[in-house]
Amino acid sequence: MVELLENPLRVGLRQERMPDPQILTIFGASGDLTQRKLVPSLYAMYQERRLPPQITIVGVARRDWSHEFFRQHMREGVEQHGGGLGSEEVWNQFAEGLFYCSGNIDHPESYQKLKAFLSELDEKRGTRGNRTFYLSVSPRFFGEAALQLGDAEMLADPNKTRLIIEKPFGKTLSTAKTLNRTVRSVCAEEQVYRIDHYLGKETVQNLLAFRFANAIFEPLWNRQFVDHVQITVAETVGLEGRAGYYETAGALRDMVQNHLMQLLALTAMEPPNSLDADAIRNEKVKVLQATRLADLEDLSKCAVRGQYKAGWMKGKSVPGYRDEEGAAPDSTTPTYAALKLSIDNWRWQGVPFYLRTGKRMPKKVTEIAIQFKKVPFLMFEAAAKHAKPNILTMRIQPNEGISLRFDVKTPGSTLRTRQVDMDFRYDAAFGTTNQDAYSRLLVDGMLGDQSLFIRGDEVEASWRLLTPLLEVWDNATDADAVPMYEAGTWEPAEAEFLLNRDGRKWRRL
Ligand code: BG6
Repeated sequence: MVELLENPLRVGLRQERMPDPQILTIFGASGDLTQRKLVPSLYAMYQERRLPPQITIVGVARRDWSHEFFRQHMREGVEQHGGGLGSEEVWNQFAEGLFYCSGNIDHPESYQKLKAFLSELDEKRGTRGNRTFYLSVSPRFFGEAALQLGDAEMLADPNKTRLIIEKPFGKTLSTAKTLNRTVRSVCAEEQVYRIDHYLGKETVQNLLAFRFANAIFEPLWNRQFVDHVQITVAETVGLEGRAGYYETAGALRDMVQNHLMQLLALTAMEPPNSLDADAIRNEKVKVLQATRLADLEDLSKCAVRGQYKAGWMKGKSVPGYRDEEGAAPDSTTPTYAALKLSIDNWRWQGVPFYLRTGKRMPKKVTEIAIQFKKVPFLMFEAAAKHAKPNILTMRIQPNEGISLRFDVKTPGSTLRTRQVDMDFRYDAAFGTTNQDAYSRLLVDGMLGDQSLFIRGDEVEASWRLLTPLLEVWDNATDADAVPMYEAGTWEPAEAEFLLNRDGRKWRRL
């Protein structure tokens, strides 16, 4: 259970707590994520004394590394990708808790060796049998690793052991279900932490506080006042050398199924009864189960894909997707997706949720825009010409903040109106947007707080609603039929029609 202080906005959703002394074992420790993100985030938390001094990190991978090599490699990660070492002494203390244990993900002997090593470390470091296992391996090994950990009885104690699983969780509804079954065959749902790093973002967590710690917005948050909602996650990056993964994922699996669905769920869910992990997740599951593609008879009316072709970004020419290393020259993989979704419940019936995400867009921006209905009657003709609807925008990143757009009369003798913004900015109010997403999630995982992790039924609900579209897009073979957009520009024209057809427009960002 989570205790709330008087003002949840002021103190954060939860009180700061310190995880128990424990061993965090990272499978796939020779990979990029460990060096660039996980260990730098852990070190930052250690520097802030948010982790106990006994914290012990064991990297597991196939390569034959020594503890010393692993420490050095992680040190470089902190220096190059994290906030720097700070004091050499603090780094040395932290590094004393870093270990490496080589092993094969599918060899039972490797797990026996690891198990013995972890027990040895328990003695040395005083970690009392508390274990968190983090699967940062290729997704095709998630099931295997879980089974092996189960067979080696390393997840047997539900009070002391936890399993964190990176994304993507499954590739389709049926593979997600199989993986859920496998994982649940070796441990309880309460031990499983499925990651979506968007939930670790401060501004995403703020969606709950903003909606439910203020009295004035919630009464407007429904079909009576809201015309439609636009959720945008635009990125400037391209493939970044990840063709092996991305060619079989595409924008729907990479971004929509997880990050955008979480943004939608937090925007549209009913108020939970408490901040208890299951109370929040029950509401998210409910709303995801009520969500569907807006036109199941004709998917082209509610879904548009796109792929970037060569173009210019910040004055530099960049290749098209099909010319990226590892991408097929006739690839139909979408790097852009726009969807129109409906939510079949009393609150949202008839209010479309438009979602879009793309790589190689002109700007990196993630935002949720709630567009309100127009006033029922405008009495001033001059004003009527210019009148635009109110828009509440939650800027997830960058320029984190919230703004409310409304009309005011411009000074002067004629009655003209103009839209202005009332703006809240995190940096102005707090000086910082706070810690990075992985730090938050790692600490929560080690604390045993599941609020910011995806539950099994939640991940399935989100796969289920995208399944009809995945089936069509996955089987598309006609490369010429994929709408193209130039790198460095906004969506393909087809995506404009998705909204124009409804008499609406995408926001220009
Ligand atoms: C990851 C995707 O989950 O999220 C990447 O696999 C994407 O393709 C990234 O670039 C975006 O995350 P963020 O935090 O930069 O918005």
